[in-house]
Amino acid sequence: MKKIISIIGARPQFIKHAPMQLQLQKHFKSLTVHTGQHYDQNMSDVFFNELNIPEPDYLFDIGGSKTQGEQTGMMLTMIEKTCMDEKPDAMLVYGDTNSTLAGTLVAAKMHIPLIHIEAGLRSFNRSMPEEINRIVADEFAQLLFCPTQQAINNLKKEGIEHAGIYLCGDVMCDMLELIKPRLQQLFNEPYYFVTIHRPYNTDDEKRLKRILTTLNSLDKRVVFPIHPRTAARMRQFDMSMQDFKNIYFIEPVGYLHSVSYQQFASAVITDSGGMQKEAYMLRKPCITLRSETEWTETLVNNWNVLVFEEIERIPEKMSRDLGKYVDGIYGNGLAAQEIVSHIKLHF
Ligand code: UD1
Ligand code: UDP
Repeated sequence: MKKIISIIGARPQFIKHAPMQLQLQKHFKSLTVHTGQHYDQNMSDVFFNELNIPEPDYLFDIGGSKTQGEQTGMMLTMIEKTCMDEKPDAMLVYGDTNSTLAGTLVAAKMHIPLIHIEAGLRSFNRSMPEEINRIVADEFAQLLFCPTQQAINNLKKEGIEHAGIYLCGDVMCDMLELIKPRLQQLFNEPYYFVTIHRPYNTDDEKRLKRILTTLNSLDKRVVFPIHPRTAARMRQFDMSMQDFKNIYFIEPVGYLHSVSYQQFASAVITDSGGMQKEAYMLRKPCITLRSETEWTETLVNNWNVLVFEEIERIPEKMSRDLGKYVDGIYGNGLAAQEIVSHIKLHF
């Protein structure tokens, strides 16, 4: 049996890996490396438990706050050592985190065939670490699985046009379909569901204050599971959660609760890539606190709108008209199955 080693490390990657692992283990010896990029119980273990992902075969401890280089470098050393020991036939990486980059560089240097899930996404904003990470992964991958036609087009524009590129839908759609029957109402009044963790929204004190002040002034309560990066910045800037009475701050939640909160919210406000897609698939209006998005399909007919400079206009954007909903843009919930059948044929 061929051996595939999957590299995961951040919250969205555990969620993407859940449907993939179900399929991979049917046809391959499927090993998992958890880089330790995310390590809190509610940023990591909770997903393995609730999504029935087998314990990682390798779990690294890279410690907390690190610079981009230090974090990637530590992972690189440990992934390389693991690959020297395991000699995998292929490596699989997801999305665009520093764990993706570290895996990619090891695979490229060790001549291990690389599979990239969620290939071809571009924000065209090279100041984002994620944009650098995904460009490198797409450049070195032999098999690229694109969730959308736009992603295929982006690759083409960069001259990436080889035989290993496939349009397969989005594995996050698979996961959403799996969880849908279990969704539950968790908050008993009308509310908006909010997550914010991008450095450009959290690391500038004035901007973070403007965002929180605007959320605090909205006409409905705001449920906000706070990412550790955002919580750390609030502490650093001496901002008290008590000062934002309209915001119900909670610890990061598991996947079932995250999707449940979205399902029953009046709208979603976020800077998360995954949540823009989930909001769309759940037919929830979304406001994205970014100047651009990789998930351009969500912008169709105002279902998602970008707000960057004009944070104070969020209330006004809430009352926008929505046009026709376009169904099925992220696939039919069978992406993982299709991806694994391509991988099988390839090897
Ligand atoms: C990372 C990804 C981002 C993704 C996000 C998902 C990169 C460059 N960024 O950003 O693309 O959208 O994950 O959530 O890979 N921390 C904890 N506990 C944890 C995890 C993190 O305290 O369990 C702290 C870290 O110590 C660090 C900060 O949060 O100080 C940021 O973590 P990091 O993984 O570096 O970046 P994210 O902002 O989470
Ligand atoms: N999510 C979660 N708990 C939370 C917030 C988000 O399970 O408290 C889920 C969310 O439903 C989505 C994924 O995490 O499936 C998105 O990950 P994140 O926003 O951390 O990263 P991004 O997608 O921006 O890279």
